[in-house]
Amino acid sequence: MIRLLGIAGSLRQGSFNRALLRAAVELAPAECVIDVATIEGIPLYDGDVEADGIPQAVQFLKEKVASADGLILVTPEYNNSIPGPFKNAIDWLTRPTSDIPRLFNERPVAVCGASPGPGGTRFAQLAWVPVFRVLGMQPWFGRTLALGEAGKLFDDEGNLRDEKPREQVRKFVTGFAHFVMRARA
Ligand code: FNR
Repeated sequence: MIRLLGIAGSLRQGSFNRALLRAAVELAPAECVIDVATIEGIPLYDGDVEADGIPQAVQFLKEKVASADGLILVTPEYNNSIPGPFKNAIDWLTRPTSDIPRLFNERPVAVCGASPGPGGTRFAQLAWVPVFRVLGMQPWFGRTLALGEAGKLFDDEGNLRDEKPREQVRKFVTGFAHFVMRARA
């Protein structure tokens, strides 16, 4: 059994990306479980705050990342790039830098996302790549999961309406889970 950690990069209750992460949890293959994490409660990064100690919400998320076999970042897209709140959360996780090897080096990571526009967060997903590189992660590029027109795909409860996107999610999570298993072997 492998344990993945999914982090959705939106604070919005009705977030499409949080809904996409819930779908990934539901559709994950039997050999893997996905724990859900949020970026709620993570303050804006401030070196003066860090000097007083790593905030509790950051420390909590750091330990979740450290104990996961792989990460799934479910990213919204703002202005063709990574939303500030999500980048801020990941930036906090890299402090102090002496913790980067424990949290990030060699850790498998996949990125996906959903947006109401046609692009489905493709630009934001691309913008994460240099972050993965500098942190020494193992990104998985086996499939793209970029759900555009999300307003049509999800119902009011945040459930995917149709089998086609559900199958896309299922294949994405299964492909990544197999990648993580191979990385662990
Ligand atoms: C957006 N949105 C957006 N969408 C997109 O596909 N490409 C983009 O470049 C942008 N840019 C953008 C900038 C800002 C400041 C905001 C607030 C929004 C729309 C965005 O995809 C939409 O708000 C999603 O609903 C955000 O994700 P969640 O909160 O639903 O997960």
